[in-house]
Amino acid sequence: MIDNEAIKSHYENLADKYDEFLYWSPDFVGKLTDRIVELLRLEPRDRLLDLGGGTGMYSLAILDRVALEKPITLVDPFPQMLEHVPKQAPVETVCADAVEYSKAAPRFTKVLMKEAVHHVEHKRELFANLHRALEPGGRVLLVHVDPTAVAYPLFEAALENARNTFADPDEMVALLEDAGFKAEKSQLVYQHEVPTDHYHRMVETGYMSIISNLDDRQLKAGLEEMRESHAGLNTLRFPETFSYVLGVKP
Ligand SMILES: C[S@@+](CC[C@H](N)C(=O)[O-])C[C@H]1O[C@@H](n2cnc3c(N)ncnc32)[C@H](O)[C@@H]1O
Repeated sequence: MIDNEAIKSHYENLADKYDEFLYWSPDFVGKLTDRIVELLRLEPRDRLLDLGGGTGMYSLAILDRVALEKPITLVDPFPQMLEHVPKQAPVETVCADAVEYSKAAPRFTKVLMKEAVHHVEHKRELFANLHRALEPGGRVLLVHVDPTAVAYPLFEAALENARNTFADPDEMVALLEDAGFKAEKSQLVYQHEVPTDHYHRMVETGYMSIISNLDDRQLKAGLEEMRESHAGLNTLRFPETFSYVLGVKP
C-alpha cells in the first residue's frame, strides 16, 4: 500500500534541494541518459512523454543529446518540483498524477518513467493506458533503483525500506507483458565516489523517500550508525544499480 501523503510531503520538502542532491555529477546523469536514449531509440521526430519527470533533470539531458523537433511533455503531480524546470527549455509541463494523465494521454511515440514507477499504486491500469496511448513500435522505459541490488552506505532500516519499496524488475516485465508490450530488463551499475560529509547531509535531508519515510527516532539512530561505520573515511565509494525495463508495443 502506497502512502500518497508521505510521498507528497517528501517531494514538497525536497524540491528545492532535489537537483543539488540527486544530480550527483554530469558523468552520472550522462551515463544514465545515454542508456535511456539508446534503449528508447530516441530520434528527432519522436514525441516523448516524461512521466514523473520532476525537475526535468533527465528531459534536459536528453535534449542535450537528441534534437527533438517537438517539446517534451513532462508530467508530475507536484508543482514544487515542476517549478524547477527551466522556463526557456522546450519542455511542456503538466501538473498531474501519472495514471490520471495516462487515461487521456494524446499519442506519444516514447515514454520515460525515471525513478517514478514505485510511486504509482495502480501500475496495471497505467501500463494498459500507456499501451493504448502509444503507437505500434512505441516504447516505454522504466528506470529505477534495482531493489535486488541495493548497496548504499546507509543504515539497516533504510536499506530494508529500499528493498521493499523500489519496483521489482521481474514484476515490471510481467506487468508490461500483461498489458501487451514485449518487455525486457537490463542493468546499469554506477560507481559513486562522494565526500562522506556531503552524503551524510543528503541523508539528514532525506534525499530519498526510503529515508524521509522513517520516523525521527529511526533517522537519528540510523545517522549515528552511519557516523560510527564511516569514522575516518573522507570519501564513500559504492555502486548504485539501476534497472532498465523496456516495453515495446508490437
Ligand atoms: C525520484 S523523483 C524522479 C524525478 C525525475 N524523473 C528524475 O529522475 O530526476 C520521482 C518523481 O515522481 C513524481 N511522482 C510521485 N508520485 C507520482 C505519481 N503518482 N504520478 C507521477 N509522478 C509521481 C515525484 O513528484 C517526483 O518528481
